[in-house]
Amino acid sequence: MNMNKDKTSSSLSKQPYKGTRDLFPPLKRTQDYMFSKMREVAHLFGYEPYDGPLLEEVELYKAKSGEELINEQIYSFTDRGARFVAIRPEMTPTLARMVAQAHKEMSKPIRWYAIPNLMRYEKPQKGRLREHWQFNVDIFGAPQLMGELEILELAIVLLQSFGASDNDFEILLNDRQVVDDIFKKLLNLDSEIVHRLYKIVDKSQKVPKETLDHMIAELNIGSRETELFLDYLQIKSFEELFLFLDKNNLQTTKNNLEKFSKLLKDINIFKFIKYDPTIVRGLDYYTGIVFEIYDKHPDNRRALCGGGSYANLLQIFNEAPLPGVGFGLGDVTFKEFLSLHKLLPDFSKPEVDFLISYQTSDGEKQALQLANSFRSLGLKVVCNLQVIKIAKCFPLAERLGAKFVVLIGEDEIKNNFLVIKNLQTQEQHKLELNLALDSSNENIKNLKTKIKEICKK
Ligand code: HAM
Repeated sequence: MNMNKDKTSSSLSKQPYKGTRDLFPPLKRTQDYMFSKMREVAHLFGYEPYDGPLLEEVELYKAKSGEELINEQIYSFTDRGARFVAIRPEMTPTLARMVAQAHKEMSKPIRWYAIPNLMRYEKPQKGRLREHWQFNVDIFGAPQLMGELEILELAIVLLQSFGASDNDFEILLNDRQVVDDIFKKLLNLDSEIVHRLYKIVDKSQKVPKETLDHMIAELNIGSRETELFLDYLQIKSFEELFLFLDKNNLQTTKNNLEKFSKLLKDINIFKFIKYDPTIVRGLDYYTGIVFEIYDKHPDNRRALCGGGSYANLLQIFNEAPLPGVGFGLGDVTFKEFLSLHKLLPDFSKPEVDFLISYQTSDGEKQALQLANSFRSLGLKVVCNLQVIKIAKCFPLAERLGAKFVVLIGEDEIKNNFLVIKNLQTQEQHKLELNLALDSSNENIKNLKTKIKEICKK
């Protein structure tokens, strides 16, 4: 047997599992930047962080998440103790489980956020992967419509905090109570057909017209009902919806949505909102206002974010209803959004203040001490861990993203100074070596002043 050949053919792939990403430092830095702003905005609104386990019992998702998630997207397996478990495909069921445990002792509303990674077995494509991170923000026990209002406001402030302008995104919104009434009262359909109709609405923008017609025909709901359903799908604005409801004697149905649109106008965020009859959300637990935020850029027409209100999720734990509202915003489409609108700083290089180098082995001790001394001032320092020629220092500093290079050569040691070179201005500064190395309290102050001066120039 040819051992070599065998070894080659069985060598492991260096690629990550399909639909997942290796987060090398530039991507991880970008993600960290996104997450830190998400946390900042959550804290601005008084939301507290939480997290949960990576694995949950499959039953948790069966209760309310919907067939698509369970039958097609979930990563599930039986563990060594014969429990049927899944890697979390979304955070809301875990959140509901945790809130069900703790809410009785908590004052309301409960405001929580998390940034979990989630896994769904989906066909990997632009904006859609098998693993993504999702900023989840949820509020429980808020007065009706006020939770919805705050959640939308938070989502808008988040996008604005990255520098997004009013024209970069839009919020497509609907009310599942209105849709329920249209399907149940106007079309007079039973719950099973209504459930299937919701799935059709959810897919209506993603499939060709013929497929849509075929799906509707399969329901066998009659020509009057089909016509009304197609009329509903054509509605393009709140005004058109309200007219449709009036015309069909569903006036009371519109009250909530009318009140909500007024509230949105009052706080000046109505300009971001567009009524869209096709937004009903693929997950089964939503009961009221639902929404998705879309990038307006033609190259990224995907939902950045989806959410809504869910009144009954705690009931699966035999708890009294505690209404929740929230959204999930995925890191994949959001990163795409930020780069397309040029809202991402350059994260290709790390952020380092000083590269400390020595050109003679006698400088090793000084360089290590100096690095510590600078770090105690809060400066980001990389110490090159071996002798390096001056000429090689500068390309290295460039790769490290360092702003300054410290040089410690024979001359410097002999004459008790070191050279600091500003890589942007090419200016050179000399600093007394003893001053830089003396870590007494008194001296640290002097050193700080000196370094501040040098860094400013
Ligand atoms: P969702 O619509 O399934 O909602 O996901 C929310 C967002 O996560 C999507 O708009 C999209 O940006 C991102 N996302 C979802 N799946 C993928 C994927 N396979 N690849 C990349 N990005 C993805 C939920 O998960 C709800 N639990 C959100 C929620 C929180 N509702 C209330 N609170």
